[in-house]
Amino acid sequence: MAKRVLVSGGAGYIGSHVTVELIEAGYEVVVADNMSNCDMTCFEGVKKITGREDIPFEQIDCCDAAAVEKLFTDYKIDAVIHFAAYKAVGESVAEPIMYYRNNLVSFLNILESSKNHGGCNVLFSSSATVYGEAEKLPVTEQTPRLPATSPYGNTKQMCEDILRDTVKATAAYGAEVNAGAQQLGPVKGIALRYFNPIGAHPSALIGELPRGVPNNLVPFITQTAIGKRECLSIFGNDYPTEDGTCLRDYIDVVDLAKAHVVAVSRMLDGKMKEDYEIFNIGTGRPVSVYELVNAFEKVNGLKLNYKFAPRRPGDVVAIWADTQLANNELGWKAERSVEDTLAAAWAWEKRIAGK
Ligand code: UFG
Repeated sequence: MAKRVLVSGGAGYIGSHVTVELIEAGYEVVVADNMSNCDMTCFEGVKKITGREDIPFEQIDCCDAAAVEKLFTDYKIDAVIHFAAYKAVGESVAEPIMYYRNNLVSFLNILESSKNHGGCNVLFSSSATVYGEAEKLPVTEQTPRLPATSPYGNTKQMCEDILRDTVKATAAYGAEVNAGAQQLGPVKGIALRYFNPIGAHPSALIGELPRGVPNNLVPFITQTAIGKRECLSIFGNDYPTEDGTCLRDYIDVVDLAKAHVVAVSRMLDGKMKEDYEIFNIGTGRPVSVYELVNAFEKVNGLKLNYKFAPRRPGDVVAIWADTQLANNELGWKAERSVEDTLAAAWAWEKRIAGK
């Protein structure tokens, strides 16, 4: 029987792309989402792309321990991919309690139920933010994490540590499950540290749906191009980089989604080398903000209204991934060009604008 993967936060931007790839790889999926930062657009898109009308969807909040327990009782879950979290850096500085409560409690509940139901394989959605302003680039998984500069970043570091400690503590638990009864079992874990996910599915049926003014660069670009925003501000052109703008590692969301499938298979097929593993998920290719804006204009044949503006507080100058570990160990590599990704982002923006 096909293995079942619980995708928490599966109706959101990355979660919906991962759900598609899991289904296309032959997994069964159950999507859980409290819909706090999305609507049903992407879940409906997932059903269209996969031709599967019957994907189980549970509208629950992972901060509700009883609801998570019920999920693990109702479904036999072989692996969890945990996305359900708040993700806006600035908002986390203003509302730290809300961020710590939501991001930590939901993950603790997932881990608790995982160990109580015979053990589970847990993939945590982490971020390159854990590296901060790294001294040496590109960053490898061994690059030391620096103290987080926002509560959001701190929750990513803390959840990585909580997963590591849980894996260690549960390693010796027996894995047999009695029908219906709870049985302690080992938790195995992988943390994927994403760089900058951008783009949309080539079908343009799923993509990013930011609420309000986008914080991230690509949705701000596409909303400016469509006329929803007047002008893109490029935050800082006096950084110590070639063109003065920040460098990032922009990874296509479908490539990123595929990395999850490979990582989940590694856990389910017993291929892990350690019970807790960390992988950088990026392209290994630094691209400046200015280069990205130019590439968007070129590939989509349009002019973008933009201006240079002061630096944004909290931005690191440059970060990109050393992807060797993911390439060699997972046998996964980012494949899509930045141009194709930007064309997909634009196709998605046009689709949601009805153009
Ligand atoms: N940028 C602009 N104008 C904008 C938006 C962004 O110039 O309107 C610039 C930023 O200054 C930065 C680059 O575009 O140089 C990328 O910014 P994003 O906000 O898209 O992405 P970040 O690299 O800041 O954020 C990413 C993830 C976060 C994570 C953060 C940690 O999206 O989840 O890395 O560094 F917390």
